[in-house]
Amino acid sequence: MSDLELREELCSNLAKWCEANIEPHMEHDDAEGKFRLDLFQGLGSQGYAGITLPEAYGGAGLSYLDYVAALETIAKYSVAYSVTLSVSSMVQTIINEYGNEKQKQKYLPKLTSGEEIGAFALSESHSGSDAASLKTTAKKTEGGYILNGTKMWITSAGVAKTYIVMARTGGEGAKGVSAFIVRDGDKGFTYGKAEKKMGWKASPTRELVFENCFVSEENLLLKEGEGFSVAMGGLDRGRIAIGSIGVGCAQRALDEAIKYSLGRVQFRQPIFDFQGLQFMMSEMACEVEASRLLVQRAAELVDQKKSSPKLSSMAKMKATDTAMYVTTEAVQIHGGVGYTSEYPVERFMRDAKVLQIVEGTNQIQKVVIARQLKKEYSL
Ligand code: CAA
Repeated sequence: MSDLELREELCSNLAKWCEANIEPHMEHDDAEGKFRLDLFQGLGSQGYAGITLPEAYGGAGLSYLDYVAALETIAKYSVAYSVTLSVSSMVQTIINEYGNEKQKQKYLPKLTSGEEIGAFALSESHSGSDAASLKTTAKKTEGGYILNGTKMWITSAGVAKTYIVMARTGGEGAKGVSAFIVRDGDKGFTYGKAEKKMGWKASPTRELVFENCFVSEENLLLKEGEGFSVAMGGLDRGRIAIGSIGVGCAQRALDEAIKYSLGRVQFRQPIFDFQGLQFMMSEMACEVEASRLLVQRAAELVDQKKSSPKLSSMAKMKATDTAMYVTTEAVQIHGGVGYTSEYPVERFMRDAKVLQIVEGTNQIQKVVIARQLKKEYSL
């Protein structure tokens, strides 16, 4: 079997699993804001929780192209579970890439198996886009560090067990930031406010509160002052993953719009047959395909060890803008019922919005792209 055939088989099995296990819950869980750990662990037991990680740490050892295809597939059923998986995978990538052998042995197997979830804690109330201005401190003490501060908008906070936390060990700016592995249950680490969100309702988002929380020096990733690079390196990959979730979200909305318009009769013909709607759906389909190709190109570069922050940011920006555009048009094509929870398109439209914001707003992606362009043209 070729790599492509294997990937298609992986996605077809995954789609069947999502259809049987995730889809039946989504309308209810979205309304109730309910996250099901057993569903996440189910994805893990099917082998999808550590797709790209080496088999030595319990991963599937597959490519980044396989990974983005899987995330796209899950997002067609639930953006929330796809995001949970992508953030947990970003944590694994960070530990695998920047962790030492002891850290990898200790933390990776439970994440790759899906038994546990990982979370990434960079943002704070006054430090969102300007991530290097974060204020949480990590003061050196005997055998480790004392963490104080509050992290905000943390995906999977409260349900995750392993957290990558960026905190300040040095002076102002990026060079003063270090990255730590912190565990649920560590003394001095509690959860704050749970956010009430427009979308991603089945994915918990909460604050992390550190009050004199001791973290052993064994849990420092790389060296003091290298934490900002750890975070940015993780985001370089994570942004491609968010792009693939955007593609899945958009594809589902497009599928729903086409099916609905073929069945809905007005003025004695299916509304699909009106050229105005055909043009809308042709443009939507074109944008979805273009976004998928850009995400795949960025993923291919990761597989070829030529990872490019420029392509990651392009993929994230293009695919998530597409998700917003396509889901909005899909609601429009459904008309009045599209605005009700009777049809899934309104959920996908709400879920699309925050894809344009997380892991760096799409304006920040433009900053990253422009900086890379300047570098390339200044050589
Ligand atoms: N890889 C590795 N290291 C990098 C890097 C990269 N891609 N980019 C920067 N660095 C390191 C470098 O060491 C750099 O120093 P040099 O310039 O000496 O090489 C240092 O970081 C500082 O870099 P910048 O000067 O570029 O830093 P900046 O303050 O100008 O910020 C930024 C750059 C791109 C705007 C960054 O702040 C950023 O990405 N902001 C957005 C924050 C973000 O994405 N937050 C996401 C939160 S997580 C989330 O949303 C997940 C979720 O739950 C779903």
